[in-house]
Amino acid sequence: MSLRFAARLDRLGTEGAFEVLAQARRLEAQGRDVIHLEIGEPDFATPENIVDAAVRAMRDGATHYTPASGLMPVREATASYISKRTGVPCTADNVVLTPGSKNILLFALLALIEPGDEVILPDPGYPIYSSLTNFVGARPVPLPVREGNDFRIDVEELRGLTTERTRLLIVNSPANPTGGALTRADCEAIAELAIERDLVVLSDEIYSRLLYDGEHVSIYALDGMAERTILMDGMSKAWAMCGWRLGFGVMPVPLAKRMDTLMINSSSCAASFTQLAAVEAFESPLSDAAVDAMREEFQLRRDVLVDGLNRIPGIRCHRPAGAFYVFPNIEATGWSERDLARALLEEAGVALLAGTAFGAHGAGYLRLSYANSVDNIGRAIDRIGVHLAAAPAVH
Ligand SMILES: Cc1ncc(COP(=O)(O)O)c(C=O)c1O
Repeated sequence: MSLRFAARLDRLGTEGAFEVLAQARRLEAQGRDVIHLEIGEPDFATPENIVDAAVRAMRDGATHYTPASGLMPVREATASYISKRTGVPCTADNVVLTPGSKNILLFALLALIEPGDEVILPDPGYPIYSSLTNFVGARPVPLPVREGNDFRIDVEELRGLTTERTRLLIVNSPANPTGGALTRADCEAIAELAIERDLVVLSDEIYSRLLYDGEHVSIYALDGMAERTILMDGMSKAWAMCGWRLGFGVMPVPLAKRMDTLMINSSSCAASFTQLAAVEAFESPLSDAAVDAMREEFQLRRDVLVDGLNRIPGIRCHRPAGAFYVFPNIEATGWSERDLARALLEEAGVALLAGTAFGAHGAGYLRLSYANSVDNIGRAIDRIGVHLAAAPAVH
């Protein structure tokens, strides 16, 4: 039988990192040595005290369904974590727990966006923003994020992109794939525009604990914004818990209630023992110390990678403020980003991503993740330098 698929599936995109990882694994299966700088996942183990909390929870019987938006004490702990970080007096009623933060994005789009509405999103940006916007039948409007502006949003440019149909603005600070972070002045200007144009803002703060320079400013904390902001965050990056699948959203209560219904109709709930482990992540000083140690190690790697790339002729690498990615400009090598990414994987054994995997404005850039050891980062820099020296851009 030939299955006939729904047209909506043709509107879904993908994540380049998963595709390149699969190609890299095929090369490794043929005996090739590949250094993985394509991955968007911390290489650290989850802190032991958090693992212990999950094991304890399971042994104590936390193996059942929970309420759809999460266990009340976990939602309370999440609200108090976000209140402490933002100063906004949110409560459990504002919180929805989902299996990974991606679901918060999907549910926000399903709950708020009609076909034909416009969603402004960063370009280059996390590819799932435009994929899911297309999926719900809305129009993604790319907002260029430029190296010359430290990979921050230009608020005047943003203003020029808003129309009568703009319903939602997605911001991501610190950002994947550029590592750029918004300043307080940026956030204030964005908030002013959002209020003036009556926009909802989805603020993806999944990398907020991985900021090396400056203060993390949450747009949710600014005057008049809590009522129009969905703060999206999760356990994956800060606590090295990608595989645990727990994300959370903090939002106005009426929207949280709608997301509860979406959870009832999809996952039923996030895993119970994963939820309980999150309380340990939020509240234990041991967890804070682990996050600090991971951040310090990431910062060291960032500097090794940025300095190493900048020593290679033709590459210019901006030092990003946060997350665990660099986004070097490779235009002066004469290579296109797609050809160079392919050649570095197939010929040099370095897996990384073309900037255009994150939108058209990624042309001329590569994305490298530094969720790998200093040793491997050093070996990758050597391989990239040798490859470019041996194969100058006749391509
Ligand atoms: C910017 C951004 N947002 C959201 C996510 C999704 O994280 P999770 O679903 O694991 O919470 C990622 C993962 O790579 C990301 O880079």
